[in-house]
Amino acid sequence: MSTVRLTQITDLHLGATKDEILGGVTTYDSFLSVLRASETQGHGDNLLLLTGDLASDSQPGAYRLLNKVLDDNGKKAVWLPGNHDHFKTMQDNLRDYPFTPVLILGGWGILLLDSSKPDGPGGHFSDEELARAEAGLAQLAGKPVLVAMHHSPVAVNSTWLDRQRIDNQQKLYAMLLAHGQVKAVITGHVHQHHDSLWHDIPVYSSPSSCVQFEQYSHDFALSDNPPGYRWIELHEDGSVQTGVEFLQDFTQRCDVDCVGY
Ligand SMILES: [Fe+2]
Repeated sequence: MSTVRLTQITDLHLGATKDEILGGVTTYDSFLSVLRASETQGHGDNLLLLTGDLASDSQPGAYRLLNKVLDDNGKKAVWLPGNHDHFKTMQDNLRDYPFTPVLILGGWGILLLDSSKPDGPGGHFSDEELARAEAGLAQLAGKPVLVAMHHSPVAVNSTWLDRQRIDNQQKLYAMLLAHGQVKAVITGHVHQHHDSLWHDIPVYSSPSSCVQFEQYSHDFALSDNPPGYRWIELHEDGSVQTGVEFLQDFTQRCDVDCVGY
């Protein structure tokens, strides 16, 4: 067994064409820049963990574009949906990357959950998803586990975003507690770097590969922080090392109306 290495890229908000712009950022270009940065910073062989909002509006062409970039660059990747995604459309168009909700890598288990709901931007676990989580945890019994989901189960101290935290997170927490081996939770959605605790479980939220939200903001607001990603190392002894990297040379942001988050 050896260390399991992942790169989390989240909230890509890709369009069906390469010229999609969100918050003044061309999302395709910034995603490619993040991918290149992870390579030049020594994470090029990592498994990519794509934690939702892969498209800006569930466009089939956005998922096909993503499939092509990943395939052309020889990437291994797993994914889960966010509130801007549509699960069936993802499955149909990410043809070379089938959905894999439970992974065993080295001595570790990885559980990918769907916290999106059809009628709004906030997080929620359906009864079916909770049942899948329970089955996944049973399958991973005895292994240290990393759980990934789009929404955060904890507050990030931004009023508008905290209204969107997973509304029934306590049901999942009870399961994770009973399993006893969940070492960390990785999320997207909040478009910012935020490390916290969900009772005793570390929760790591990560910057988007395009535009970031202002931290500690009452209302929706964008930050000037550049695109970023998270690297994750899962060690044989069950410990987790992780860190966030922001692009150092990114100057693309321009002033446009900001809608559609
Ligand atoms: Fe997002």
